[in-house]
Amino acid sequence: MKKTLVVYYSDSGYTRKNAEMIAEELGCEAAAVEAVTPQALAAADLVIYGGWLFASTCQGWKKFQRRPELTGKQLAVFVTGASEGTPEQVEQFVKANLTDGQKSRVPLFYIRGGFNYQKLSFVNKMLMLAMKKRLQNLAKKGELPEDGRLLLAAYASPVDFTARENVLPLCAWARAQ
Ligand SMILES: Cc1cc2nc3c(=O)[nH]c(=O)nc-3n(C[C@H](O)[C@H](O)[C@H](O)COP(=O)(O)O)c2cc1C
Repeated sequence: MKKTLVVYYSDSGYTRKNAEMIAEELGCEAAAVEAVTPQALAAADLVIYGGWLFASTCQGWKKFQRRPELTGKQLAVFVTGASEGTPEQVEQFVKANLTDGQKSRVPLFYIRGGFNYQKLSFVNKMLMLAMKKRLQNLAKKGELPEDGRLLLAAYASPVDFTARENVLPLCAWARAQ
């Protein structure tokens, strides 16, 4: 297996939890993107980047992938969101985060997180408040889909879908490198 480093960007903690489980499984380090040193990146042969999903976009990935220490290294991405991760959703995440050139070189894995309104940053709380209003309006009209119902309920009590088994496909891929 290549010398591996897991780098993550997490707002409310789910992506960090997934990153730490991956690092435990692979026996490597996990570092927050804001703290990772150029030396740590330069020393790795395989860098796994995990970011939380904001409107299908993997947070921090666009900037991270430009870091010069990554030149010539094998990369993989995992994205952590609240959605179920249907094949259609995962296809959308690939489309939103990988260029055509990257699609054959950089695998993308969806590893579900959860939703914790109380732990969001102030700005994200404001954004999600607008979403809550939209969901409540749909509920009033009787047009709220099942995933919307679950999200609305999660504003009151957080949901956590993280599970060790969900990180195993990425870990199997990493071990085979
Ligand atoms: C503003 C905002 C936008 C979001 N957009 C998505 C999304 O497009 N798809 C998704 O699956 N989850 C979305 N989520 C849910 C988060 O990705 C989810 O809560 C994730 O587990 C957060 O990870 P973190 O705890 O590492 O920050 C969104 C959350 C916020 C606050």
